[in-house]
Amino acid sequence: MIPYSRQSINLFDVLSVSKQLAFKSLTQGSKIEEFEAKVAEYVGAQYAVAVSSATAGLHLAVLALELPVNSEIITSPISFVASSNAILYSGYRPNFVDVERETINIDISLIDQELNSNHEVRAVIPVHFAGLPCDMRRLSEVIASKEVKVVEDAAHAFGAGYPSGTKVGSCEYSDMTVFSFHPVKSMTTGEGGMITTNSYDLYKKLLRLRSHGINKLNDSFESSLLSTSGGMLNPWYYEMQELGFNYRLTEIQAALGVSQIDRLDKFIKDRKSRVDWYLLNLLEVPAVTPAQSKSSTQSAHHIFPIRINYSELNISRAQLMNSLKEREIGTQVHYIPIPLHPYYQKLGFGVENLPETMSYYHEALTIPLYPSLKQSQQRKVIIELSNLIGASQEK
Ligand SMILES: Cc1ncc(COP(=O)(O)O)c(C=O)c1O
Repeated sequence: MIPYSRQSINLFDVLSVSKQLAFKSLTQGSKIEEFEAKVAEYVGAQYAVAVSSATAGLHLAVLALELPVNSEIITSPISFVASSNAILYSGYRPNFVDVERETINIDISLIDQELNSNHEVRAVIPVHFAGLPCDMRRLSEVIASKEVKVVEDAAHAFGAGYPSGTKVGSCEYSDMTVFSFHPVKSMTTGEGGMITTNSYDLYKKLLRLRSHGINKLNDSFESSLLSTSGGMLNPWYYEMQELGFNYRLTEIQAALGVSQIDRLDKFIKDRKSRVDWYLLNLLEVPAVTPAQSKSSTQSAHHIFPIRINYSELNISRAQLMNSLKEREIGTQVHYIPIPLHPYYQKLGFGVENLPETMSYYHEALTIPLYPSLKQSQQRKVIIELSNLIGASQEK
């Protein structure tokens, strides 16, 4: 089977994890700090906070903004539910703005319109879909004169860069950026995530929230009665100062992260060469176009979504996916628009104002892409796709 995505693990990864497991701490030790320092250095941010998943990271990032109650947060409907669930967890309301056709990223001119007419919006969570960065410079111009915060959902985009040359995660245009290290992402820690920021206050708040809301770094104690006896600091004392969570990454996962990050640029290079091959060879396949037509050398190439114009064909998407599966080719649809999920429907969300989202959703298909994908496998994907589509045109 050729899966739509898979991780790349080598002997160095196995050794790094085994060494950690056999000889070192399993949680709350120095490996996490080492991993955080490596990520911060790689993206060019001042601080990085490792968390148990990007979902946890998005939750903490939204909480750390401390927005007024009833705030709305704009985000993209073409994303995994985690992007907007983080808004709901924190008691705010998602506001879904349509995507742009060329990139399937959130349409920044529509954000501009929304901000000018809706004064409940206090933050934006842009999603760098498939690893292709949103136009963050434009977004920062749009929000410049407004009290609006930005958290980048960069779950797909570890290793990607902005046109300015800085990396996604540098927070050049945002308050915080959140990455995912789930196995299908740019690199993996099994499950895991990272939040980056340049704000010391946000950093401290994120560290606290990650670990039950218990004081961190140089936080002063609120209770002098409990924290001291006879004028001396009590050695056992710690203090829960707000309601936090256990969203920590383990040291074992951090050991995998420390080993994987050394190959991140190679992973992205390998993904890009496979994307380039697809772009050339897809030209021969009727009714198929790449979903992201605006080219960018800066993408992390997390997945390779294509669009298929099924209205020209006598085959449905379900039939095509099933036939590809019979031929040992895995595909997926990224994503079911978030407001279509029953939970969101029950909350009153809909897709009436999201024509590009729906147009994309009806045509979307993600075909296999990962660093170790062989050219013979890519050829098989193209040949089988061509055959199935060609046969359906002749009917
Ligand atoms: C855009 C996006 N945001 C957030 C997440 C959540 O990531 P995690 O699985 O690390 O919680 C995902 C996961 O696929 C995602 O695709």
